[in-house]
Amino acid sequence: MKTLLSDAASPTGEHEIAATEATGEILSIRGGRPLRGRVDVKGAKNLATKAMVAALLGESASILRDVPDISDVKVVRSLLEAHGVRVDDGDEPGTLHLDPRDAVSAHMEEIDAHAGASRIPILFCGPLLHLLGQAFIPDLGGCRIGDRPINFHLDALRNFGAVVEKLPSGIRLSAPDGLHGANIELPYPSVGATEQVLLTAVRARGVTELRNAAIEPEIMDLIAVLQKMGAIISYEPNRVILIEGVPSLSGYDHRCIFDRNEAASWACAALATDGDIFVSGARQQEMLTFLNVFRKAGGSFDIGEDGIRFRRGDALRPVMVETDVHPGFMTDWQQPLIVALTQAQGRSVVHETVYENRLGFTAALNKMGADIQVHAQGLDMPGRRVPRRALEQAAVINGPTPLHGADVVVPDLRGGYSYVIAALAAEGESTVRNVGIIRRGYEKFFAKLDAVGADFRVVG
Ligand code: EPU
Repeated sequence: MKTLLSDAASPTGEHEIAATEATGEILSIRGGRPLRGRVDVKGAKNLATKAMVAALLGESASILRDVPDISDVKVVRSLLEAHGVRVDDGDEPGTLHLDPRDAVSAHMEEIDAHAGASRIPILFCGPLLHLLGQAFIPDLGGCRIGDRPINFHLDALRNFGAVVEKLPSGIRLSAPDGLHGANIELPYPSVGATEQVLLTAVRARGVTELRNAAIEPEIMDLIAVLQKMGAIISYEPNRVILIEGVPSLSGYDHRCIFDRNEAASWACAALATDGDIFVSGARQQEMLTFLNVFRKAGGSFDIGEDGIRFRRGDALRPVMVETDVHPGFMTDWQQPLIVALTQAQGRSVVHETVYENRLGFTAALNKMGADIQVHAQGLDMPGRRVPRRALEQAAVINGPTPLHGADVVVPDLRGGYSYVIAALAAEGESTVRNVGIIRRGYEKFFAKLDAVGADFRVVG
């Protein structure tokens, strides 16, 4: 098969653009052959977008490097521009210059245009309150993987002294007397709520103590960004972060941490298709937990200076995994792993404890021949740590099951990636629809599929 439409930013520029009507939403995939090759993984989606928001806090321009070319970045860029931030592409590919010196309140219509497109707008609250004394945040989007409430965010903002008003179209916030430091304990180490507190506390009057904080590597990288800007942030054992507010911050120059979720996705693609993929830019340190599971499942890896090579060892083996906050096994890793586990000899169990509805994607894998049962209430099993959340679900994967082609519709970012990998592992032809969602988080996706020898074409 031949690729008909390129990623706009194909590194080789070799793809033929033949189907002018194709939007990149539907892929026809012929599977059954190993993926082999090299992919470059750049900056993390889950850091780049937050660092872009942090630029609003500076009194001078910032430079962000290795920014991935994904639609979430485009949404945040448009929102920053709607607020008067000048955003320019730098000479080095993937570099953004962000100048907030003319930042202003955006018009409601401009903000509204982005409603539902991403979850990042909620993180504009603190910076906008510092800058303008008010903020309006549209209804949030992001993947439909559970309720995804924002109560932790709003409670934290109230603690800083913000007045929060909920409107049908979004949330209006104001801080007539400015924001002050706060003592906050999160009910759960939420990534977004921790970022909310960091982005708000750095310029609040006085000290903020955040307990039960998330400590993901992307959060540590955001702390590094803020420290470059002049913030004073320290962290203690047991998920405590202390932030001493400062009256002003400057711009930063920062290279984003690599995207470990994307690296893990390609690693699982190699495992599922019995392939061999070198993920340039992947680092061991941030992936320790993933690498342990990968090895236990029968994967083999070589860690190099500039990346990690992933392939199968001997036969694939079943594993039991529980998703968790860092340093646990990330919820964003389970979907591509589950595809590989359909090929393991025996019964695997994956407990999802971060989101209440992140195993729905497995129904389509069953349509492709997998044998996966989802238990809505989780499973009480020996050898498990005590579950910490009521919202867990468990997937029981019986393998090995040969996969065959099917017509499937992408439900969300990580689930969608796993469908593409399943289609590439399956015998025969598959149609994968709604592929645009995958570009929210995987840059140059088609070009990378090409680079590892995937047999696909864009048909719509
Ligand atoms: N939660 C609440 N109330 C809140 C905030 C969160 O109940 O106010 C709950 C959520 O419903 C969820 C849990 O806490 O059950 C964890 O949510 P968290 O806030 O940690 O997630 P997030 O910040 O919304 C980020 C990533 C996700 C990733 C999670 C967990 C971004 C933009 N998103 O989401 O990434 O899965 O952390 O690591 O950083 C993805 O990349 O595909 C993705 C969904």
